[in-house]
Amino acid sequence: MNNTRKGLVPRETIDEIRIRSDIVEIISECGIALRPTGQSYKGLCPFHDEKTPSFTVSPQKQIFYCFGCQTGGNVISFVQKHEGKSFIETLEWLADRLNIALPNQDVRESANRKRFTTLEDLNRFAVEYYHRQLLTENIGGTAREYIKHRGVQSKTLRLFQLGYAKAERRDFVKVATDNGFTIQQLVDAGLIKDEERGPQDRFWNRILFPIQNERGIPVGFGGRSLSEEHQPKYLNSPTTILYDKSNVLYNLDKARQSIYKKQHVLLVEGYMDVLMLSQSGIENVVASSGTSLSENHANLLKRFAPEVVIVYDGDASGFQAAQRGLDRLLTEGLRVRIALLPTGEDPDSFVKQHGATAFAELTDKAINLIEFQIQVAIQQQDIHRVDVKAQVVKELVQTLLSVNNRIERSEYVKYASKELHVKENVLWQELRDAGFKETSAPRQMRQAKNVHEKLTPRAQIERQLIEALIQSPALIPHIKSQFDYQSFTEPSFVRIAQLLWEAYTDDEDVNIQTLIDECSDEKLSALISSMLLQKAPPPNLQVRVDGCLKKLKHFLFQDVEQRVRSHALAEGADEMATLEELVNLSNQRRALRDRDVVDSPGDSLNEGGS
Ligand code: UTP
Ligand code: MN
Repeated sequence: MNNTRKGLVPRETIDEIRIRSDIVEIISECGIALRPTGQSYKGLCPFHDEKTPSFTVSPQKQIFYCFGCQTGGNVISFVQKHEGKSFIETLEWLADRLNIALPNQDVRESANRKRFTTLEDLNRFAVEYYHRQLLTENIGGTAREYIKHRGVQSKTLRLFQLGYAKAERRDFVKVATDNGFTIQQLVDAGLIKDEERGPQDRFWNRILFPIQNERGIPVGFGGRSLSEEHQPKYLNSPTTILYDKSNVLYNLDKARQSIYKKQHVLLVEGYMDVLMLSQSGIENVVASSGTSLSENHANLLKRFAPEVVIVYDGDASGFQAAQRGLDRLLTEGLRVRIALLPTGEDPDSFVKQHGATAFAELTDKAINLIEFQIQVAIQQQDIHRVDVKAQVVKELVQTLLSVNNRIERSEYVKYASKELHVKENVLWQELRDAGFKETSAPRQMRQAKNVHEKLTPRAQIERQLIEALIQSPALIPHIKSQFDYQSFTEPSFVRIAQLLWEAYTDDEDVNIQTLIDECSDEKLSALISSMLLQKAPPPNLQVRVDGCLKKLKHFLFQDVEQRVRSHALAEGADEMATLEELVNLSNQRRALRDRDVVDSPGDSLNEGGS
């Protein structure tokens, strides 16, 4: 999704794709019911939980914006976010629908490759090499036997591009360097270790599970040993530039469509669990690969579905693992349910033994996490003892605090009250004691308000100015010539102004839609969209813009005066000179004010600026 990638499709093609793809049509096709209201359409936002529609689509401006969660953009940003596609994938998808030909993929890829001969290439090479080894009878034969014995069919082995690393310690080093990769690249990719006795392969005599990021780019490996003696059972790639286990979920690249369709994701522990479920036709599965869930994981999942069903192993460590990840998922606003496997089973063994239907029944019966915690507590301790019950309530309260959704929270409280024989209002009181505020709006709504509330009076004027420029880009040159974008005080306005100033060239008008395409910051493009969506500009926009400009200049003079004064104080500068400079500055500032008194907000705030 970086600019170099975007740069590989000509801007005219992007414009054509965007202009010919009607945003209302596409959003409706994506399953969101839109109702016309005046000039725009409204619907329930697919990006956050809501009961009343705040998701707005403007056919005229070809922009969407949600006033609840401040997600916004154009048709390309919508598909990207909703379908979990990259920028390029989105263009391909939209272009395909319109029968527009994109520059040949190979051309784009080779251009891309020239730009970075990367670890990505090296990883691709490694995946292919190891996979070939596994398929070569006299090399990967034993490993293949093992895999077959585990029940993995050959189509699955190919789909997941399983590999085999020979028992030799310097096999891959040699092959990769023969193919032009450097030792440093091999070390950087985590494929070899540079030791005193010379470079050694990280993986030897292991079955390799290539790990892809959500876009299908190979970033690392998990390697399983073939015998008890060879420890650890799984050896994983170390953290590299490409691979950080806290933001990769195994199989998300293959699972994401199914996750999106089913609106929930199954989260399992291991590589083998994923393989066997996928082989049984259950595709919406990802594995945390033995690490605890991070905020990144939660955010990644949230892009595709609102609910996570945890299917961890039916043993004590699985139980603990399940509990560890919960709060993280909850605070990120995901719904969480837990499927309980019979003791001693993991999804792999369960689906092998009982089949896909039985597994589906099990996940359908998944219980919410409050039920889960209560069941764990009941199983593990004597819940009838008052002190135990008090302790359990304390723990539940902590979980409840993480629940982001109001309705769910109250459902959970009801449930807990019934199961534990504790009155609901007692539980609510416990929650309040632990810092919960009942009247507080959901987190997303609070953020929504903050955007406007937090602005200083000066930034409010800045906002008016930027908004006017976005609605009427023809005014940009007029302002650009008089005002440096760095003179805005609000960081997001500085960045938008910079984009606007840079986008404007003498022979080209600024196209705000293009700006949204090229803006790599989601928050910023949402902000731009929201500004574009504001009421139509008043006819006297130029006057208004000039008014804002003068007020902002006034603030700038104040800044300078302030700086001169504090400089003089700090340095003990020549008093007379300083005084003269100050008088001069304040005269200029007054002149600015007296000449053009414009009636727009912020006026009163300029008074008494000493
Ligand atoms: P498990 O021990 O449950 O392994 O670890 P598994 O997936 O069921 O594999 P099989 O069936 O024994 O072959 C679950 C996951 O934890 C990570 C791996 O990602 C594994 O798939 N793990 C486990 C490690 O990273 N290192 C280890 O030594 C063990
Ligand atoms: Mn297993």
